[in-house]
Amino acid sequence: MSAFLETLQLGRTFGGLKAVDDVSMAIEQGELVGLIGPNGAGKTTLFNLISGFTAPSSGEVRLKGERIDGLTPHDIARRGIGRTFQNLRIFPNMSVFDNVTVGAIGHETIGLGSIFPWQKAKSDRITQKSFAALEAVGLLAEADDLAANISYGKRKYLEIARALAMQPELLILDEPAAGLNETETRQLADFIRSLHREGRTIILIEHDMRLVMSICERVIVLASGRKICDGKPDMVQQDAGVLEAYLGVDE
Ligand SMILES: Nc1ncnc2c1ncn2[C@@H]1O[C@H](COP(=O)(O)OP(=O)(O)OP(=O)(O)O)[C@@H](O)[C@H]1O
Ligand SMILES: [Mg+2]
Repeated sequence: MSAFLETLQLGRTFGGLKAVDDVSMAIEQGELVGLIGPNGAGKTTLFNLISGFTAPSSGEVRLKGERIDGLTPHDIARRGIGRTFQNLRIFPNMSVFDNVTVGAIGHETIGLGSIFPWQKAKSDRITQKSFAALEAVGLLAEADDLAANISYGKRKYLEIARALAMQPELLILDEPAAGLNETETRQLADFIRSLHREGRTIILIEHDMRLVMSICERVIVLASGRKICDGKPDMVQQDAGVLEAYLGVDE
């Protein structure tokens, strides 16, 4: 049986730079996997390749055995991959709720406010999914607030809510804890654990090692575009190649 998500010798170059270099990995359904590596290691590029925001220069991406490389981000989202962005993609002048419907609409492929009854049913579903996503991240009370007016910490959850509104089977999170304080990071860890317990497959890019090592079942390490280690947190923390990759790098 093929893995839930697989990359096969996946590569992406920018000019002469191999941002992602021959990366093969397999993620099983229901896993919570950390993706770590020094700045510029290629983590975000790998996420972009999986979610269709960047086209591969070589190799393949397979979801449940089917190739998804070459599909649009929209099609990949509809197949069940939701993601967040390292640089938050929040529309500050829209309400919290409307920011989330952007995600839900992507899933339903239809605009809101239509006069046709069958479209009305869809728009009701979008509304319901958006509220459910906001409830899941604890932002229901802020639904009508302007996104610009909620705290940075809450905006990080809004970014997650938008991905959840697509009801993804696979959720990929790009540095969700960046900029959060210690208490907020602990709360986020609990939240990610709860998403995982509900059965979601999750890949987490994070620089906060304590967070990664405490919640992830497996950790994949990238350095200079290449996968240099893949294993249980204990093993990865003791790996000589990993330590070397981080040496002299100011995290
Ligand atoms: N669109 C692009 N055009 C040119 N170079 C790029 C582009 N995107 C990424 N790169 C380069 O590819 C390399 C990998 O970048 P990437 O953002 O994937 O790293 P990262 O592991 O996510 O780093 P960080 O931890 O800082 O977020 C870097 O050298 C980066 O400058
Ligand atoms: Mg990145």
